[in-house]
This record gives sequence, C-alpha cells and structure tokens, in this order.
Amino acid sequence: MEAGTFAPIQSTSYQVFFGFSAALFKALTQEFRPTNIYFLSDSNTAEHCLPLLEEEGVTVNSEHLITIPPGEANKDLRTCEVIWSFLHKKQADRHALLVNVGGGVITDLGGFAASVYKRGIAFLQVPTTLLAQVDAAVGAKTGIDFQAEKNMIGTFTASRAVVIDERFLKTLQPAELNAGSAEMIKHGLIADVVYFRQLAAELPAGLAAGLIPTALIYRSVEIKNSIILQDPYEKGLRKTLNFGHTAGHAIETLSHLNGLAPVRHGEAIGVGMIVELFLSALVPNGLPLELRDDCAGFLFGLFGKRKIAVADYEPLVELMKNDKKNEGRRILFTLITSIGHSTYDNAFTQDEIRRSFDYYNLLFE
Ligand SMILES: NC(=O)c1ccc[n+]([C@@H]2O[C@H](COP(=O)([O-])OP(=O)(O)OC[C@H]3O[C@@H](n4cnc5c(N)ncnc54)[C@H](O)[C@@H]3O)[C@@H](O)[C@H]2O)c1
Repeated sequence: MEAGTFAPIQSTSYQVFFGFSAALFKALTQEFRPTNIYFLSDSNTAEHCLPLLEEEGVTVNSEHLITIPPGEANKDLRTCEVIWSFLHKKQADRHALLVNVGGGVITDLGGFAASVYKRGIAFLQVPTTLLAQVDAAVGAKTGIDFQAEKNMIGTFTASRAVVIDERFLKTLQPAELNAGSAEMIKHGLIADVVYFRQLAAELPAGLAAGLIPTALIYRSVEIKNSIILQDPYEKGLRKTLNFGHTAGHAIETLSHLNGLAPVRHGEAIGVGMIVELFLSALVPNGLPLELRDDCAGFLFGLFGKRKIAVADYEPLVELMKNDKKNEGRRILFTLITSIGHSTYDNAFTQDEIRRSFDYYNLLFE
C-alpha cells in the first residue's frame, strides 16, 4: 500500500489508519506511553499476520503474546478468562495496551476483555480479515457470545486506533474474503447507491483474484463511520447497519447450535439480506420488486450456498424473537426502500418471515 494514499478517517475519539508501519505503531503507542504492550492473536493470525508486523519492525515478544484457537466458538467467557489470567500473571496494570491482531473474533473478544480488565485498559485494533476491516473493528462495539447467543455480553468501548492494511488479506481463505464482502454490500445497499453499483461491477473480479482494492475498503469504512458519528450508541440511525442481521444472526446461531457446518458471519448476513430484501418489498412504498430481485440475484451469486431447511423455519423465528434489537414481542428489521435508503424498527408477522425464507429458497430453482 502506498503510504499516505488514504488519509486517516476520524471516528468518535479515535482514527482509522490505512497502512501498517513501525513509524505509525510507534507514534500510536508513544502517544500514551503504555507500561507494557501485549498482543492477542489466534493461531492463524499468529502464523500469517504477526510476521508482517515483524517485517515492519514491530517486535512481538512471545512473552507478551496470547494466542488462542481460531473460530467463533472461542469468542466466549472462557477465553476471556484465559486473557485476563495471562494479563494478571504478567502483572499488567491499568496503563497496559492490548493489540488485537485478527479477524472479528479477535477484535470483538480482545476489545471486550480489555474494556473490563482493571475497569478498562487501552487496546488497538489491527483487523486482518475483510470483515473485520470494513466492519467489526470499526465502531467501538466489543463483545462475546454467551449461552449460544451472539454478542450477548459486551460494551461500547472505543479503541485507541484501528490500523487497516490490505496486505493481511493475502493469506485469507477465499471463503473468508467472500464472507467479508457481505458487509461492504450492506453499506452500499443502506447508504450509497453509487458505491453499491461499483461493488456490483468490481467485487466479483476482485474476489476471484483474491484482491480487494483498498479504495473499496476505505469507502466502506467511511460509510460505517459516518453513521456511527451520528449515532454512536445505536439509539436510531445506527440500527440501519443491522440490515440483513435479524435473519442473518439467527441463521448463524442456528448453524452453531444444530451441529452442522457453521455458517460464517458474513455468509449468514449475505443470506439475511436476501431474506430482508423480500420484507423490504412488502411494506407500503417499499422496495420496488425489480430492484428487490436484482439485488437478491447479486447477493445470491455470492452467498446462495444452501437452502434454509423448512424444518429450520420455526427455530429461526424463535431465535429472532430473542434478538437484542427487538422491542417487546415484536421482531424488528432494518429495511431498504431503495438502494442507498434504509429504515429501521420495522415489525413483521411470523408468517411474513416464513414467506421471506421461501423467497430465498425459490432462488435455487
Ligand atoms: N463489533 C462489531 O461491530 C462487529 C461487526 C461485524 C461482525 N462482528 C463479529 O466479527 C466476527 C466475525 O469476524 P471474522 O469473519 O473476521 O471471523 P474470524 O475472526 O473468525 O476470522 C475468520 C478466519 O480467518 C482467520 N484469519 C484471520 N485473519 C487472517 C489472515 N489475514 N490470514 C489467514 N487467516 C486469517 C481466522 O483465524 C479465522 O479462522 C463475529 O464474531 C461477528 O459477531 C462484530
């Protein structure tokens, strides 16, 4: 990445930087002089991503490195205890810094563990998956899953900074890159038709080549950040970022519960958006049917891997009833009314939700 090509994006109390370098790392860490710097990685990012830090001249001392097994199953309280025990054993004090190097699991988990250790220590997000770069690491939401419920326990805590570097993406599995693109498409669908069209034109080739241009990542971060700046604590507008997530979270959670191959977060959101496009067209002055089908076709090409089993309809609706975003007994959704325009807190009946699953399943025929 050419240094200086992409200006830092100012978020609430922190900036999102593009391009990892020792100079940037030094500047960020010297700013508040931590007593010690610790790194959190999973076994994949320890292998593939820490070498890039070392190459850039940042030493990752193995004495200060916590490496956990990869995967969503580890975004839990048990792993938090591993992190807290490690920090405690090392006598990390309140002025320590935790550098989270990994995908959304690491940035969510590390952010949460840091946000409550000794009432909160500073952390730096170094996202290494596309999904974490365009979404998870930006926006100050930290969290863990609890009793099979996604992100049940968490905090709103801003990191010191976020450092994005496209070089990390080179070692990502193609399926992970694909999954991350769902959140980029979501940003286009809810807020920026020009960006959506650009993604529709450029993403398939980029994914096939295993290369996502930083310019596309940058725009995604800009969109998410501009929404967060207007509504950091999700009182209103930030809910638009949940497009695809009411259905998507249920699909992701059920796949973990039923013991079948787990569906990746991004893939589940991709399917969730198709389901919620159907709902978007049900409301008065809602999404025109032609746009619904165009957008669904594009998403289906990327995320239409397996049908939703009819036997899963009820369990999925049950999971949606527990969604954090609901109010009372109503299951709430974010919808788009056209590409680039979204509304939130829309309730639907269980029958309408079942029909939205049918719509997705019909795309396979
Ligand atoms: N906080 C938020 O606002 C927010 C937003 C969206 C998603 N999330 C969370 O993000 C999580 C999903 O994130 P994810 O998709 O990044 O999953 P992940 O962190 O599990 O990463 C996916 C896989 O890629 C591996 N990996 C990561 N970087 C790599 C690299 N550069 N090279 C090779 N392998 C690499 C990981 O080890 C893992 O196996 C979910 O828990 C979701 O809830 C949070």
